[in-house]
Amino acid sequence: MRLLLTGSSGWLARFLATRLRASGHDVLGIDVVPGANTDIIGSVADRLLIDRTFGDYGIEAVIHAGALHKPDIARFAAQAFIDVNVTGTLNLLEAAAEAGHDRFLFTSTTSLMITDAIRDEAGPSAIWLDEDFGPLAPRNIYGVTKLAAEGLCRLYHRDHGLACMILRTGRFFPEDDDTIDALDGPNLKANEFLNRRLTVEDAAEAHLLALDRAPALGCETFVLSAPIAFARGDGPALKQDAAAVIARYYPEAADLYAARGWRLPASIGRIYDPGRAERLLGFRARTDFGSILAALRDGRPLPFAHDPGYVSPVTRGARPV
Ligand SMILES: NC(=O)c1ccc[n+]([C@@H]2O[C@H](COP(=O)([O-])OP(=O)(O)OC[C@H]3O[C@@H](n4cnc5c(N)ncnc54)[C@H](O)[C@@H]3O)[C@@H](O)[C@H]2O)c1
Repeated sequence: MRLLLTGSSGWLARFLATRLRASGHDVLGIDVVPGANTDIIGSVADRLLIDRTFGDYGIEAVIHAGALHKPDIARFAAQAFIDVNVTGTLNLLEAAAEAGHDRFLFTSTTSLMITDAIRDEAGPSAIWLDEDFGPLAPRNIYGVTKLAAEGLCRLYHRDHGLACMILRTGRFFPEDDDTIDALDGPNLKANEFLNRRLTVEDAAEAHLLALDRAPALGCETFVLSAPIAFARGDGPALKQDAAAVIARYYPEAADLYAARGWRLPASIGRIYDPGRAERLLGFRARTDFGSILAALRDGRPLPFAHDPGYVSPVTRGARPV
């Protein structure tokens, strides 16, 4: 298909564009910042540019990965989030509906499911976060605008029959966490594969599957994360003594971690459940916590990207809209 990929200079797009082309798609990239996969420099908030692009290039479907995201909160005003994440999504949906497209992919985020209470992990048990979790009350402008954009996708499905795949993606960023610094970067990322992270390659793969299945599925929301080993009944124990639960599922974890000077989480308060994506999309991330232990055991490179120096292109570009 002839696809418009937004955010084409970004981290996800670096992998997604390559993967899409390898499976025979024609990919046209749009971003506010130049990049190897970007053909059009401009903003999704510019409706005229979107219309012209659809007309000039005969776009058949949109993969909307471009956004201002959480690290951008420190850099841009709330209005820029509305312009890019909400108006930009609306522009693309309107253009897609007018062009009679049969599918639309929106890269959303698990972050919009995190209320203050969940972030504080104050309850007595780990909480399972799946697509039915609610009520949703995102705690920052990133989550609020991504949730609004999801709502627009559902509306365009309802009113125009546009099949929309809403991919609530867990963490795949390569840089260090902007708030947690108690563990070194690779240790923290490895721990997150227990409950809230996937590789960028796996995130890209899920987009391929969703693109393929969209017309048959209609409008669906999916949580994307690495497969989880734990059962829901482990919730209280994960909260109280995560290392003991981890030892049951991964008996070699403690020793492999100790050999590297790493620490396992003492407590896990939330689990992102990718079960629906597995059932409906046939998506199961290739890399999970077990893959990381296998790499540690065999002395192989870690199977996930870690780049403390990564800076979102839009930050370098300085003008998001
Ligand atoms: N990185 C993560 O861990 C993570 C987790 C969950 C969801 N997501 C989502 O995945 C998507 C891709 O994120 P990423 O990690 O590749 O981030 P990124 O910052 O590397 O890429 C986002 C791209 O969007 C571009 N962009 C910003 N404003 C734009 C505009 N007005 N018009 C066109 N392009 C614009 C940026 O320049 C950038 O190249 C985003 O929608 C993000 O919300 C990311």
